[in-house]
Amino acid sequence: MLPAGPLMTEHRLIERMISLLDSEFETINKKGRVNITFLDQAIDFIRTYADRCHHGKEEDILFRELKIKDLSQAHKKILDELIKEHVYARENTAILSEAKNKYINGEKANIKTILGQLEKLVTFYPQHIRKEDNDFFIPSMSYFTKEEQEDMLNEFWEFDKKLIHENYKNLVESYE
Ligand SMILES: [Fe+2]
Ligand SMILES: [Fe+2]
Repeated sequence: MLPAGPLMTEHRLIERMISLLDSEFETINKKGRVNITFLDQAIDFIRTYADRCHHGKEEDILFRELKIKDLSQAHKKILDELIKEHVYARENTAILSEAKNKYINGEKANIKTILGQLEKLVTFYPQHIRKEDNDFFIPSMSYFTKEEQEDMLNEFWEFDKKLIHENYKNLVESYE
């Protein structure tokens, strides 16, 4: 298996969550009410799965290894864009989360920000995923030898293994 494989599999689950967020956007628009439980869990999904677990493997492993390769100008350009796009996703998720917290605290006008942020994320993720799937991941594999690809996959599995422990350690520490 190529290291691009598990990353593309993760894209499919992210797409399903984005589709749920798109439906939630429509529901909020129609009913003027936010499903707080769902939004809380969706934000956790974006932060823990899409950002920490998925973007984490991209940035901390795949992109780190690509940066020491002699990339073509075109691939270097896409790599820089992808890194900036991860920052964009993080920032917009933070704004969504803050608006959601204010909404819970009774500042109902924040529903507008929630809608705006949902729209941004629902538009952003499919474009970002398309760029990685169609223009980057597969060609980027050719910079690595079979052995390097194998090492990368192993590092992916190690990364995933540590995540659940890191996640719940952070939870406990946040309450201590
Ligand atoms: Fe990405
Ligand atoms: Fe990705």
